[in-house]
Amino acid sequence: MNKINKLKIIKNQALTDEIHLLSLKVSDPLEAKPGQFFLLKMNERYDPLLGRPLSIFDLEGDKISFLFRVKGKGTKILSKLSLGEEIQITGPFGRWYPFPQGEFAVIAGGIGIASVFYLIKKFPERAYLFYGARNLSEILFYEELKNLCKEVFISTECGRGEYKGVVTETFREKGLKLNLPIYACGPMIMIKELRKILEENQSNLQCFVAVEERMACGLGACLGCVIETTEGFKRVCTEGPVFKIDELKL
Ligand SMILES: Cc1cc2nc3c(=O)[nH]c(=O)nc-3n(C[C@H](O)[C@H](O)[C@H](O)COP(=O)(O)OP(=O)(O)OC[C@H]3O[C@@H](n4cnc5c(N)ncnc54)[C@H](O)[C@@H]3O)c2cc1C
Ligand code: FES
Repeated sequence: MNKINKLKIIKNQALTDEIHLLSLKVSDPLEAKPGQFFLLKMNERYDPLLGRPLSIFDLEGDKISFLFRVKGKGTKILSKLSLGEEIQITGPFGRWYPFPQGEFAVIAGGIGIASVFYLIKKFPERAYLFYGARNLSEILFYEELKNLCKEVFISTECGRGEYKGVVTETFREKGLKLNLPIYACGPMIMIKELRKILEENQSNLQCFVAVEERMACGLGACLGCVIETTEGFKRVCTEGPVFKIDELKL
């Protein structure tokens, strides 16, 4: 059930120039599943008016965490909030990743790791993770991920790390043959490339992707987040953000 909570900031750490980890102390028990998101309202004022959607990065005990890249006004304000300040979060929203039955493959592009970390953590030692970023400094939580996953394949566009190039190419080379269901989150260009690879290889592997459209109400009312699918337009906030890849019109 969606609830509005005012939670205290217990961590707001810059992990890179642009990426922050925000942790909040949960007072009432919170239930949320991997792939779902919350709307975070930055302040009491009306600017920005709307909360910003962030995926659940981690939820354990009395702590919920979000990993975010500073993009514009809202996330900039978020990145500057101090320990002890309170922030309003509403949620959880959206459809979660269907729970994997056995081993599974995960593809994370850049900040897309924010959406899949909790999935990997919920199902330890079952994920083969393909994780790509522009450079090594943006590969985050490497040690934790290595401990949680069966195997981690790191690709960077700058060429440092195990594989040079985009993460989908590493997946094409090493991941397809694993023959496992796929869970992916990353920029739209990565999702399109992944679909191309699956089509070229006539793969019928199950593939679930989380889409990060712009959002307004988060409740299914404003149609500000629609995306075209094979069954017409769907709202990312309520009918997503997780979709089957072959359902999307890319
Ligand atoms: C379901 C969902 C889950 C998300 N989870 C995360 C997450 O865990 N971590 C994270 O860093 N980001 C996540 N995002 C994206 C995040 O919500 C946006 O980056 C954020 O709302 C931007 O707000 P802003 O006020 O900083 O930027 P704005 O001032 O609103 O916009 C600044 C720039 O960012 C672009 N932008 C705005 N929203 C998005 C978006 N959704 N996707 C891509 N570009 C955008 C705008 O086009 C503009 O160029 C998620 C989005 C959705 C829909
Ligand atoms: S954000 Fe309003 S319908 Fe999705």
